[in-house]
Amino acid sequence: MRRGVVLFILVNVLILSFLVRSVFTLLTLLVEDASADAIHRSDIPSPNSSLIESRPQIIPKIIHQTYINESIPEHWIEPQQSCINLHPDYEYKLWTNEKSREFIAKEYPWFLETFDGYRYPIQRADAIRYFVLAYYGGTYIDLDDGCQRRLDPLLSYPAWVRRTKPTGISNDAMGAVPQHPFFLRVVESLQAYDKHWFLPYITVMYSTGPLFLSVVWKEYMAESFGMDRVRVLMPDEYNRFSWSFFTHHVGNSWHGADAQLIFWVCQS
Ligand SMILES: *[C@@H]1O[C@H](CO)[C@@H](O)[C@H](O)[C@H]1NC(C)=O
Ligand SMILES: *[C@@H]1O[C@H](CO)[C@@H](O)[C@H](O)[C@H]1NC(C)=O
Repeated sequence: MRRGVVLFILVNVLILSFLVRSVFTLLTLLVEDASADAIHRSDIPSPNSSLIESRPQIIPKIIHQTYINESIPEHWIEPQQSCINLHPDYEYKLWTNEKSREFIAKEYPWFLETFDGYRYPIQRADAIRYFVLAYYGGTYIDLDDGCQRRLDPLLSYPAWVRRTKPTGISNDAMGAVPQHPFFLRVVESLQAYDKHWFLPYITVMYSTGPLFLSVVWKEYMAESFGMDRVRVLMPDEYNRFSWSFFTHHVGNSWHGADAQLIFWVCQS
């Protein structure tokens, strides 16, 4: 009986401390402006600048994308092709459902059960991008993002992610060297965050999506230094101007809209 009570209290303390820690991180995320790690406009050479050639490029020239199978829907062919055409010297990897599962089974067998167990296919699409970045390095780009200029300048940072407004980071475009400690931590964290939160979009956001990534990023930032830092591409450099890297096309940008909704609800 007494052992039961102790166990009960222990379990509750564990759950509570997990919740307090998560809520605390979520709150600090609201005031995080990423300015310490921002890739500033002045640090990005203009599209045809000779500066690009003179900077060391450490991220491998690989572009990763994901889709169910090889039959890319009509409306995403153009953005997909724009990235391929601009980067003939990059390796292109399309991670279909089948290839993704094979890859996890072979390289990360400890994760296969979680991977197969995800209730929503988008969770697998989220998870695989972290694993391939951790393994191969390279640049991941969502299929609904087209390329407007070559990615070369971004290959100079050991790892980069994209800032979203009003807060947090997104997982729609990111780059890293292989085995970067941030992405290792991200793949390590997936199992602990594999929880259900009543609403599908909160479950997806917080188990594998941008909210999950933002929380892990926020925790990681407190402990990383120098080359381990994750640099942050700010919204203007993302797709707003003629010198920005990407163009946005219609498609599954529901992640972004949901994140904004959640943060809007939190802030009001
Ligand atoms: C950069 O050079 C390419 C090919 O030489 C050209 O098509 C493009 O317009 C140039 N871009 C800018 C911004 O000058
Ligand atoms: C690819 O997936 C789509 C969407 O589920 C499906 O409609 C299509 O038939 C699939 N194509 C092939 C070749 O399996």
